[in-house]
Amino acid sequence: MNNALIDAISKRRSQYALGKNVSLSQLELSELIKQAVKLAPSAFNSQSARVVILFGQQSDQFWQIVMDKLRAIVPADKFAPTEAKVNSFAAGVGTILFYEDQDTIAALQQQYPSYHDQFPIWSEQGSGIAQFAVWSALANAGIGANLQHYNPLPDADAAKLWDIPPSWKLRAMMPFGSNEATIADKTFLDDRVRFKEFGSF
Ligand SMILES: Cc1cc2nc3c(=O)[nH]c(=O)nc-3n(C[C@H](O)[C@H](O)[C@H](O)COP(=O)(O)O)c2cc1C
Repeated sequence: MNNALIDAISKRRSQYALGKNVSLSQLELSELIKQAVKLAPSAFNSQSARVVILFGQQSDQFWQIVMDKLRAIVPADKFAPTEAKVNSFAAGVGTILFYEDQDTIAALQQQYPSYHDQFPIWSEQGSGIAQFAVWSALANAGIGANLQHYNPLPDADAAKLWDIPPSWKLRAMMPFGSNEATIADKTFLDDRVRFKEFGSF
C-alpha cells in the first residue's frame, strides 16, 4: 500500500557520515525543524519540548565542549576513536539540541496531582516523538542525521553559552548534514515477535 508518511519515515536512518553538501538554505532547515517540533503531539498539549538549533561554528562549538569534557574522562591512549566520532558529528551543517521544560512539567503536576508521576514520563515520550518527527522530516528532505546522548556532560557549558533557561533539561542532540555514505539495509525482528492482532471488521 502506498503511503506518503511511510515513504518518508522509510528514509530516516542513523547517518554517521555527515557533510556540508546540503541544498536547503539555513532558513528552510530551521523552518522544517520548527514545523516538525510544533506538529509533534505532547501530553495535555503541554508543548514542553524546547529546541536550540546550532548552525556552522555554533554547532562546532557544541561538539568542542563535548570533546573537552570527554578528554577529561577518557584515557589519553584510548581517545583517538572518541575524537574521530565527535569530529564526525561536527562534520555536518548543524546540531539540534532537544530540551524539555521542567517548569511546564511541574505546573502540570500541580494542576493534575493524580497524574503527578506520569508527567515526567510523558515528557520523555513527547521528546522522543519530537525527535522522531524532526529526524524524519530532515530525512524526507534529503538531510542525514543521527541521535546522540552526551548529556549531562555539555549541559552547563551549553547553558552558559546559549543562555538556556535553568528549567530546560537537555535530553538529546541531533547532528545533521548531507548524506555522505549509503547505509546498510535495516534488519527487522520477525513480526510474530513484535505484534499481536485479534478480531476482524
Ligand atoms: C531513544 C533512542 C536513543 C538512541 N541513542 C543513540 C545514541 O546515543 N547514539 C547513537 O549513535 N545512536 C542512538 N540511537 C540510534 C539507534 O541506535 C538507531 O536508531 C537504531 O540502531 C536503528 O538504526 P536506524 O536509526 O538507522 O534505523 C538512539 C535511538 C533511539 C530511538
